[in-house]
Amino acid sequence: MDFISVLKVSLLVPCIALACTTALHAFGDTDTSTCSMEMYGNDTAAFWACRTQFAHQSNWFPSPIAGLFSYQVWNGYDGFWQNGAVLETMTNFVANTNGTNRRYLSVINGGERDLYSLLEAYGPYPSFDDMGWYGLAYTRIYEVLGNDMFLQDAKDIFDWCWRTGWDTSGACAGGFYFDNSFASKQTITNAQMLQLTAKLFRITNNTDYKNKMEQIYHYILNNSLINETTYLVADGATYDCTPSNVYGPTYNSGVMIGAMVELYKISSDPSYTDLAFKMAIGVIERSCDAEGILVESCTPTCDEDALMYKGIFVRNIRYLMDVLNDKTKRDYLQSWLELQIESNIMHNMCDEVPITKCNISYKDGPPYFNKSGPVFSPDWRGPFSYGAPMQQTSALDLFISAIQPGTECSGSFCNYDPPNPPPQPLTCNSKPCPEGEDCCEYSPYTSYTCCYTNQHCNNTTGVCDNN
Ligand SMILES: *[C@@H]1O[C@H](CO)[C@@H](O)[C@H](O)[C@H]1NC(C)=O
Ligand SMILES: *[C@@H]1O[C@H](CO)[C@@H](O)[C@H](O)[C@H]1NC(C)=O
Ligand SMILES: *[C@@H]1O[C@H](CO)[C@@H](O)[C@H](O)[C@H]1NC(C)=O
Ligand SMILES: *[C@@H]1O[C@H](CO)[C@@H](O)[C@H](O)[C@H]1NC(C)=O
Ligand SMILES: *[C@@H]1O[C@H](CO)[C@@H](O)[C@H](O)[C@H]1NC(C)=O
Ligand SMILES: *[C@@H]1O[C@H](CO)[C@@H](O)[C@H](O)[C@H]1NC(C)=O
Ligand SMILES: *[C@@H]1O[C@H](CO)[C@@H](O)[C@H](O)[C@H]1NC(C)=O
Ligand SMILES: *[C@@H]1O[C@H](CO)[C@@H](O)[C@H](O)[C@H]1NC(C)=O
Ligand SMILES: *[C@@H]1O[C@H](CO)[C@@H](O)[C@H](O)[C@H]1NC(C)=O
Repeated sequence: MDFISVLKVSLLVPCIALACTTALHAFGDTDTSTCSMEMYGNDTAAFWACRTQFAHQSNWFPSPIAGLFSYQVWNGYDGFWQNGAVLETMTNFVANTNGTNRRYLSVINGGERDLYSLLEAYGPYPSFDDMGWYGLAYTRIYEVLGNDMFLQDAKDIFDWCWRTGWDTSGACAGGFYFDNSFASKQTITNAQMLQLTAKLFRITNNTDYKNKMEQIYHYILNNSLINETTYLVADGATYDCTPSNVYGPTYNSGVMIGAMVELYKISSDPSYTDLAFKMAIGVIERSCDAEGILVESCTPTCDEDALMYKGIFVRNIRYLMDVLNDKTKRDYLQSWLELQIESNIMHNMCDEVPITKCNISYKDGPPYFNKSGPVFSPDWRGPFSYGAPMQQTSALDLFISAIQPGTECSGSFCNYDPPNPPPQPLTCNSKPCPEGEDCCEYSPYTSYTCCYTNQHCNNTTGVCDNN
């Protein structure tokens, strides 16, 4: 999630900084007939998850320029990492219906990539947390769908991150660096790697993972990343081995909660779930408005990365709910999730007929499939502003997290899995840029970027010049 890196390799990521909102296809089709309440035994959250996923896939998958990437891409995530993190969301839909909802299975399986292909995503290589999202998603896919290739890839990812990113100098008890500048240590990487190595140990029994898991947890404690009064999770650590004074992003707590769930699964020690519950309450108390609706602290000026944080938070809340023995605590979290759902459906959704009335954003040109709603915008309090895959994924995570245990899918649409057209790279001849923006073609790539309105394309160099 290193936006600087995205810009550096923008040669491979045309149109990156744009919202190409032009409605090039005006179908306005809202065929959501493949989702029904009956399919899910009337579970409301599962029904909305089905519709939301349908819209997510119809609007933004695959990217028209998918062929340019070494990993599976949607049309309009702002970062490489989100294309990995969404696979975990989709897999949880399968998991939370006891394996009976298997929609878009070929997309989940199509996300498999070996370590080398993922490392190709950015030069010289992605930041460690970017890789962490793939590691976590792949391990989850292995757990739920049992494909050995995903497990092997996840191990390779963890081993590479350890080899490349773990601080062996002994300073501050180790810790993963954020990226290859080795300049800072962010909590997200360490929380991810704790969750990942604990999962790998649970799955493989290989004590090497347990050993590393203990070192990572020691680092987290040594740097006091989980505050013992507020149970909020600091965003990073300083050179003095103390927590940074930033407690905003909800995904830090989310992934740390998921890590505690894994430590609990390994040890059966309830102190881990107690701590995880306190961390959950910490965020709910700090980051919710007077009505109890979760608001990311950067709102309304969040960068696009942050639009997926709430989804990552609630996904991990569900992991906690699945191991809580205390029914009161579980019920509390369930009703809190349902409150978020209610707010989204009442205030933060666009589901108009025709759907072209909704403001939907694309980065890589028009979608392959007919546009569909419902679409959700970033702020769960509403009002609806615009649809894009980051905020759609957060809403999807929310619905999937609130599916009642025991919910199953029945009927032929439980296996709905439309074929995806092969990637067809666009060129400037497709007239993909919004009004007022030059289209600039890279050579020798058959791809393009749209220049900012204050720029012009230099047709000799294929670069947008400021003039
Ligand atoms: C779902 O709701 C419909 C309409 O209220 C009802 O006819 C049906 O029996 C319900 N199905 C289940 C599994 O509860
Ligand atoms: C943290 O680790 C350092 C060594 O890196 C050690 O000197 C220090 O005592 C540790 N602090 C805590 C609180 O564990
Ligand atoms: C791991 O060890 C546990 C307990 O000893 C055992 O039940 C389980 O089958 C082992 N799993 C693997 C993958 O070896
Ligand atoms: C934990 O949070 C409390 C309350 O904000 C603060 O006073 C304390 O310094 C924090 N602890 C650490 C280790 O940062
Ligand atoms: C898009 O919608 C039109 C009109 O409803 C329909 O005929 C067409 O088959 C749809 N295309 C796809 C790819 O779903
Ligand atoms: C549509 O969304 C874009 C962001 O993608 C925003 O800049 C624009 O103002 C929105 N348009 C309307 C009419 O709300
Ligand atoms: C999940 O499915 C399995 C196999 O069909 C079944 O034995 C089990 O009871 C189901 N679990 C739940 C929670 O529904
Ligand atoms: C295009 O770029 C080249 C190389 O930087 C430069 O020499 C040329 O003047 C530019 N053309 C225009 C029209 O700006
Ligand atoms: C570059 O080419 C495009 C399309 O061929 C043209 O519209 C544009 O004016 C050219 N730009 C310059 C600076 O010559």
